[in-house]
Amino acid sequence: MPAKDLDQVVNLCKRRGFVYPSGEIYGGFRSSYDYGPLGSLMLRNVKEAWVRTMVQQRDDVVLIDAAILGAPQVFEASGHLSNFSDPLVDCTVCKRRFRQDQIEDRDCPQSKKGCEFTDARAFNLMFKTHAGPVEGEGATVYLRPETAQGMFVNFANVLQTSRKKPPFGIAQVGKSFRNEITPGNFIFRTREFEQMELEFFVPPGESAQWYDYWCKSRLQWYVDYGIPAEMLRIREHAKDELSHYSAGTSDIEFLFPWGWGELEGIAQRTDYDLKQHAEHSRQKLEYFDQATNERYVPYVVEPAAGANRTMAAFLLAAFDEDVVNDEPRTVLRLHPRLAPFQIAVLPLSKKDTLMPLAKQIHSILGARYMCDFDETQAIGRRYRRQDEIGTPFCVTVDFDSLEDHSVTIRERDSTAQNRVKIDSLLTELSHRLGY
Ligand code: GAP
Repeated sequence: MPAKDLDQVVNLCKRRGFVYPSGEIYGGFRSSYDYGPLGSLMLRNVKEAWVRTMVQQRDDVVLIDAAILGAPQVFEASGHLSNFSDPLVDCTVCKRRFRQDQIEDRDCPQSKKGCEFTDARAFNLMFKTHAGPVEGEGATVYLRPETAQGMFVNFANVLQTSRKKPPFGIAQVGKSFRNEITPGNFIFRTREFEQMELEFFVPPGESAQWYDYWCKSRLQWYVDYGIPAEMLRIREHAKDELSHYSAGTSDIEFLFPWGWGELEGIAQRTDYDLKQHAEHSRQKLEYFDQATNERYVPYVVEPAAGANRTMAAFLLAAFDEDVVNDEPRTVLRLHPRLAPFQIAVLPLSKKDTLMPLAKQIHSILGARYMCDFDETQAIGRRYRRQDEIGTPFCVTVDFDSLEDHSVTIRERDSTAQNRVKIDSLLTELSHRLGY
């Protein structure tokens, strides 16, 4: 059974070193989180899983890593300076500020009646700072609110250097920043987060079919990495929900403990961004097809996912509690590729006689997989810890190992154990892990 309430996963994350409130020793910095020894490994695995599917296993997508700081011209052209805002209202009595769509039933702590709201004003969500030693308009820069603009402003560079032609994609994984008015629900909505975005450039006439293709294949990705299909759905945006650049968007949603929430949006951005940047930069951002002698501005289909939210969804879906040997246990049934460690090497005793062999096995397995090494506590408690952090396999080295050159493999989900020769350990584990 997946986690029923968010606290089960939040507590596990804190207790085991996945996610900590940021700056906790100073009381925490609201809605910011630091990823600990296990969380940073898992977040990296989520991003690598995305890159594997979206770049490595395709021949029509390339990866870039663009700057986080952007000049105002970029966001003027993209429309973010004028359109990337939430409508906000102030209460004239208690002076608190709310998003206009979240003001129903607000009790005012001062008037003891309902709040009295001003008219809505647009509040831009971009973080603004300045580059260099002098503040002023000429030095203004913005932290990117989406990674996408990096792909559009590099369209011509990538086209020239990668020898790709539409349909082809430019992918990127990296941090984005939004001054969200209502961050919350753990790592679901934060002001600093990571995105995994693909801008897929297609001949204009093929846009609808690629939109359909990406909606289906992105949904399948979450299922392939272990989220039950019944916890996922696709929801098409109503016209009044669409972003300023979109002619149509569908969200992939996950059933969070508080209800359905967006993991990823697949948008038809048409030729909006390339045309805007071409106009503002006075550069040609188009494709010349030598076969047909045709020149056109490609349309864009954009699957845009959030790495942190996706990690939260994988954790919630993998969370389970069962009973083993009459004792309750917590287990994270994570896909092996997503688990922080694929394997844990556990010497049965701390005695010097076992350590060299155990360390040698750790170093052989560690060359291919992320392996934990744990020689503390009784073996049963160590298994429980590995179950709780999602490690698919434990390798136990005992005193017999010195004689029979074998070790015990213990499987997380079934807790089944079996003995394997050390010589065939790597082959056996790679077979069971599936890679
Ligand atoms: N380039 C298109 C774009 O940025 P978006 O729907 O605003 O579209 C894409 O963002 C994804 O980024 C979302 O589906 C979500 O997973 C993630 N995301 C957006 N804002 C976020 C926030 N404040 N905290 C965490 N993740 C966020």
